[in-house]
Amino acid sequence: MKISFIGCGKVGSTVAFAAGLRGLAREMVMVDFNAEKARGEAWDILQGRAFMPQVDIRSGNMEDTAGSDIAVISAGIPRKADEPRVLLLSRNAALIADIVRQTVGYSPNCILLMITNPLDIMTQLAYQASGLPVSRVIGMGTVLDTSRYRSCIAAEFGCDARDIDAYVIGEHGETMVPLRSNITVKGIPLERLAGVTTAKLDKIVDDVVTASGTVIALKGGTVFAPAAAACAILEAIVHDNRQVLPVCTYQERYGVSLSLPTLVGREGALGSFSPALSAAEEEMLQKSVRNIRAYAEQLSEYLQDSAAAK
Ligand code: LAC
Repeated sequence: MKISFIGCGKVGSTVAFAAGLRGLAREMVMVDFNAEKARGEAWDILQGRAFMPQVDIRSGNMEDTAGSDIAVISAGIPRKADEPRVLLLSRNAALIADIVRQTVGYSPNCILLMITNPLDIMTQLAYQASGLPVSRVIGMGTVLDTSRYRSCIAAEFGCDARDIDAYVIGEHGETMVPLRSNITVKGIPLERLAGVTTAKLDKIVDDVVTASGTVIALKGGTVFAPAAAACAILEAIVHDNRQVLPVCTYQERYGVSLSLPTLVGREGALGSFSPALSAAEEEMLQKSVRNIRAYAEQLSEYLQDSAAAK
């Protein structure tokens, strides 16, 4: 399995490191516009190989990514704590379109795993620019928010986050939809656990929606939770786990890319499911769709303008 990491910032490098520890690739290539940074990150991981499964890891340029099975794209300009993710749209759109075209040119059969924000619209851009089938353009989406949701529930009610089935769907952004109507702990409805109150769940939902900004304000950027989420998706692909994860993919029925529970395996996103939603959750999802549609319109205007400016 060859995995290329395009973008060697904190998140991209940590995903590569975690993938190395989990033995998810036999060959890894790390690419960054700052070649020295890419070389340093590759060397740093390589020097830990005595304690990880065999992997050939090197830095390189886009040509070195040729024949990748998976390309993890985290390149782009990160946001600041008080900035909405969508502000990055113009900053990252042209960059991502170019990277995607090059990546697919060298690896026409790859699966793209998008991490760059604003995630949903970057995933949609990658789908449109790549010409790949829907199944092969996957965004990290609300897998990260779902992990935060399950982690907060586990911390509050004293159970294992891995036992919790609770989804965040829709936009990886301010209009994300933490579902409350069907949270279970190993199949047992959450409300059957002692001490569950609406107020506690309200607080958890608020903490999840604001989680990223909170961490960015404290340490300048989120790294480990995004990397864990990205690695979970990589693992489902590499091992053909056919695991249900709320990844972001283009959804014909909504006309945008957004996150829904999706079967993920070696061929990528194998099919999404629409969870049972309350009326309020349905309205929240429609708000997510409207938000992403608005970004999509901004994106097409921006790309038209930038094409005209060339
Ligand atoms: C976050 C970034 C990755 O939610 O969007 O931490």
